[in-house]
Amino acid sequence: MHRLAGTIHLEAMTSDDLDEVLALETRAFPDPWTRAQFEAELTNPHAEILLARRGISTQDGGAIVGYLAYWHILDEIQILDVAVDPDMRRQGIARMLLAHVLTTSATQDCVTWSLEVRASNDAARRLYEGAGFRVVNTRPGYYAHGKEDALIMVRGTVPGT
Ligand SMILES: CC(C)(COP(=O)(O)OP(=O)(O)OC[C@H]1O[C@@H](n2cnc3c(N)ncnc32)[C@H](O)[C@@H]1OP(=O)(O)O)[C@@H](O)C(=O)NCCC(=O)NCCS
Repeated sequence: MHRLAGTIHLEAMTSDDLDEVLALETRAFPDPWTRAQFEAELTNPHAEILLARRGISTQDGGAIVGYLAYWHILDEIQILDVAVDPDMRRQGIARMLLAHVLTTSATQDCVTWSLEVRASNDAARRLYEGAGFRVVNTRPGYYAHGKEDALIMVRGTVPGT
């Protein structure tokens, strides 16, 4: 059991947060999303990017320590991107972001949650397994960087079953 260092609150990302989120994204991934990708999701009506930020509320203006991007289409959620500041990991921030999305979408009649993860990404796989996701398929060579397989993980109803 790990405790959050200080107070963290969750809020929706806006274009004002782009520079800070891009800096974190670049530290977190070998193949980071570009500014254009974040901008596209900020204007996509099906997309939401949830931020974890230091402080009790938005008024505190604390640093962004993590985020989770997803699409919500009908009764399905697709998790697109999750990252936590390397200096703030193993404190439950990703679990907090994920739990918030799972809980709120369940009350909106969502029945399927899915995502893709690098086969070698043990930290993320354990995070998702702990939230009830399971591996249902593999996409060989899906990630161009490192030519690595993607595991498709699903929670809830597997599409097509
Ligand atoms: C994956 C990532 C988002 C996890 O963020 P985090 O805030 O450190 O995760 P949490 O503290 O909420 O951990 C929740 C659970 O996930 C698992 N987990 C997280 N990091 C882990 C690690 N380094 N090794 C093993 N398990 C890990 C554990 O089960 C953990 O529970 P526990 O701490 O009680 O054992 C973070 O490591 C990260 O940003 N990685 C780089 C970006 C990335 O790979 N994103 C996922 C793309 S699919």
